[in-house]
Amino acid sequence: MTVITTHKVRFEPVGIEMEVEEGETVLDAAFRQGISVMHGCKEGQCSSCKSLLLDGDVEMLKYSTFALPDYERDTGHILLCRSHAYSDLTVELLNYDEDLLRRSIAVQSFDATLAKITTLTHDIRMLEIEIEQPLKFWAGQYVDLTLPGGEITRAFSMANPPSEQHRLAFIIKKYPQGAFSSALDANLSPGDRLIAKGPYGTCFRREGRPGPILLIGGGSGMSPLRSILLDQAQSAETRPVRFFYGARTQADLFNLDEFAKLTAEMPDFQFIPALSHADDDASWTGERGFIHEVLAKYLRAEALAGEIDAYSCGPPPMIDAILPVLQMAGVEPDHIYFDKFTPAVR
Ligand SMILES: Cc1cc2nc3c(=O)[nH]c(=O)nc-3n(C[C@H](O)[C@H](O)[C@H](O)COP(=O)(O)OP(=O)(O)OC[C@H]3O[C@@H](n4cnc5c(N)ncnc54)[C@H](O)[C@@H]3O)c2cc1C
Ligand code: FES
Repeated sequence: MTVITTHKVRFEPVGIEMEVEEGETVLDAAFRQGISVMHGCKEGQCSSCKSLLLDGDVEMLKYSTFALPDYERDTGHILLCRSHAYSDLTVELLNYDEDLLRRSIAVQSFDATLAKITTLTHDIRMLEIEIEQPLKFWAGQYVDLTLPGGEITRAFSMANPPSEQHRLAFIIKKYPQGAFSSALDANLSPGDRLIAKGPYGTCFRREGRPGPILLIGGGSGMSPLRSILLDQAQSAETRPVRFFYGARTQADLFNLDEFAKLTAEMPDFQFIPALSHADDDASWTGERGFIHEVLAKYLRAEALAGEIDAYSCGPPPMIDAILPVLQMAGVEPDHIYFDKFTPAVR
């Protein structure tokens, strides 16, 4: 019989305790026990799970020094998603969010059946899967999807609202030679069996606040933002919502009918698409430029009353350009939620 060694982990300053098995990361142990601490990529790339080791021994798996530079490692910082425990640990959470801890959902694996793949643009698809057991999640969260064969797993954010727990939709960008995304037009078909593991993610809709909501994204960053938008539309809240969406050309825009319908139905919603590569397109009458520039212009010109909640999802460079714009506009750092779609580690 194999004996699994476990250690105790105590998180400060929240005083939560849990167990971690040798061979699993501290972050995976937290997910398993339904304790949601700050995280993003789960692969040592984004630094969201960075914490301070106050006591105990860990061994770290490979990580990016962008996420944890050597000088921080030398001062006792660790990435929870890369840390294996070799003794009991006391860990100080540098970023924690009461709402996140309160709304934790234990991570589980779900057998799924591929229902449909729809072409949205030349390089964006919608993948829909069905699952028998309900998958509870918050709008904006993601799952790890594993293709048939079990070798390729990638993170994808739900595009549907959490009211739909048996059929999940994902908006997925195709990359040339992308191991997962290329399969969408090649060898995947309805009836194929996938595995969905989750929910993960901290960029989910915060409820019951009075101020305006900003949704900012580009490309397949639409996926979680659509889920947040639809969830907001289904709620009784009447907060103003502005959705800034960056694309290259008109050929990269999609879901426009759905946004027009929501604009008519919601109390105060505007969809603001901006094109970055439309200089020679005279038929485009909307915003031009990169989405962070258009956002900055809007926030300078419009006085949005009340404390803003901002959600941003998409490629890391886009998010890196958006964060300072939000901060310059006075959005409180703890009201800015984002998911960087970092490429998977091979
Ligand atoms: C938290 C999170 C949520 C995500 N949600 C979504 C989502 O809702 N929709 C979605 O489409 N994707 C999402 N992603 C990204 C997704 O997990 C995959 O990384 C992406 O689909 C590429 O996988 P692939 O197997 O097709 O390409 P891979 O085989 O992993 O990569 C092939 C090549 O494609 C290029 N490439 C891959 N990813 C990127 C990238 N992000 N930026 C630039 N070039 C890249 C690189 O050149 C790479 O060498 C998310 C990622 C994270 C971390
Ligand atoms: S570095 Fe740990 S979650 Fe991204």
